[in-house]
Amino acid sequence: MEKHAHDIVIVGAGLAGLRAAVAAAELSSKLDIAVISKLHPLRSHSVCAQGGTAAVMREKDSFDLHAFDTVKGADYLADQDVVEFFVRQAPREIILMEHWGCPWSRTPDGKIDQRPFGGHTYPRACFAADMTGFHEMHTLYGKATTYSNVKFYDEWFATSLIVENNIVVGLTAIELKTGEMHTFKAKAVVMATGGHERIYEFTTFSHTTTGDGMAMAYRVGAPLEDMEFVQFHPTGLVPSGVLITEGARGEGGYLYNALGERFMKRYAPEKMELAPRDVVSRAEQTEILEGRAFMGPYGPYIALDLRHLGEEKINERLPLIRDVAIKLGGVDPVKEPIPIRPAAHYSMGGIKANIRTETPIRGLYAAGECSCLSLHGANRLGTNSTAECLVFGAVAGEEAAKYAMSAGFHEFPEEKALAEEKRVFDGILGSEGGERVPQLRDEMRRLMNTKVWIFRTGEELKSALKEVRTLKERFKNIKVEDRGKTFNTGFTAALQLDFMLDLAEVTIISALARTESRGAHSRLDYPNRDDERWLVHTLAYYTVDGPRLEYVPVTITKWQPTIRKY
Ligand code: FUM
Repeated sequence: MEKHAHDIVIVGAGLAGLRAAVAAAELSSKLDIAVISKLHPLRSHSVCAQGGTAAVMREKDSFDLHAFDTVKGADYLADQDVVEFFVRQAPREIILMEHWGCPWSRTPDGKIDQRPFGGHTYPRACFAADMTGFHEMHTLYGKATTYSNVKFYDEWFATSLIVENNIVVGLTAIELKTGEMHTFKAKAVVMATGGHERIYEFTTFSHTTTGDGMAMAYRVGAPLEDMEFVQFHPTGLVPSGVLITEGARGEGGYLYNALGERFMKRYAPEKMELAPRDVVSRAEQTEILEGRAFMGPYGPYIALDLRHLGEEKINERLPLIRDVAIKLGGVDPVKEPIPIRPAAHYSMGGIKANIRTETPIRGLYAAGECSCLSLHGANRLGTNSTAECLVFGAVAGEEAAKYAMSAGFHEFPEEKALAEEKRVFDGILGSEGGERVPQLRDEMRRLMNTKVWIFRTGEELKSALKEVRTLKERFKNIKVEDRGKTFNTGFTAALQLDFMLDLAEVTIISALARTESRGAHSRLDYPNRDDERWLVHTLAYYTVDGPRLEYVPVTITKWQPTIRKY
């Protein structure tokens, strides 16, 4: 195995990973920084972020208002010290992005424009039309590539973290071009690998968001926090699930059922279509279950109507989703409503990390969607995610840099790398069973879609757990047809499924244990929020027999939990 060594290795080159690289490089030109990504950075899922990035940019808005909206949106499960820090840092990130060249949309007098988003009481989403992530990513990639001490390893697949005595000492990764495994020694590692929504069938997420980093950290002892909280976005395009930005409702779009009703008046009379996502998705799902949805060739759907906005506004503010609706949905939103329904969109849970992005493993940091700090609690507000990636990507880069400057390299145990090589090449690529990866993957996704969806019950979750454990057993008996070395996508799919099965199991077991309804976790058999018992974060630890759960308290600073109404 070829060996590499870098002071800091960042895994993942989306918004959080790139921001971490820039922050670390800014701190010291002497640091040797590597960014490993299974994709070219500009194909990271962050490019798909559409609607905006939240930040307080006007005098009429305030940090307390943004923080309270976030805490209430989170159904009081957010750690409020993290929220307060986050809202104060976000405006700086918007300005930095501006200086680095991000083409923010503007007001007529030249200010950075802001649009309304669900659950925010002030229009605080800074945006670049409906391609915010695309422009932010190009801005950050351009910036990151100006540092000579940042080296990119594009199309390298990280397979495991190497940890000794609870200290991260590096990782293993496969160069996809050659199919060879290499070792990377590091003083600090930053995980920034995104979410795991591809455990679901109907999702807004790219096929590459398979939660690799979460699973790698989990397997070496870092707990996964609050994994039961999966966000369902109200407007996944039918039939593909591709995101139709909430910005469409922020600009004034309406949701209709088949009776022609703006049904949100029954669920959130004040906020209507701009209630938080958990509320709107539950409302849509109720309309579907109670037979008031439209019926199409791909099943029931809800109508998102933008026609009253007019062609000029749609073209100026929502050009991408017009194009997407035409090409992938067969409708032009200028003339017809868009068929949508809820789609798995975001993981509020992830690798447990503190306000400095430190995980319980020394030298290991986590930022962006793969982490859980816990900023979003039980339900994230739209546009707080890209903001989180920028704010805590910067924190992770700075903290990892400070740590790497004070620490030396640790001994890298070659035997662990050899064991990983054997697990991956003999155990997965060399497996001679009869099961096919796409088949197991589809079964997992269907199961998550039917039994671990918006409304959950103990009975269905138990049955889902049993099924996912059967899938894990069957995975031991797979066969990857292609044994080639170069860009073997069948092999990569197997590695990803191996990660996803662990994450599906953690998601289900955490959801089964939480016998209450809070934010995005809605139990039909436990319909109420229970602060007495459940105002706590779930921590799932890896054991060979499956996840072991522990609970830790929520940090409350200013806002005591109260009834959540919109
Ligand atoms: O709807 C959207 O544009 C998504 C934004 C987000 O998830 O923050």
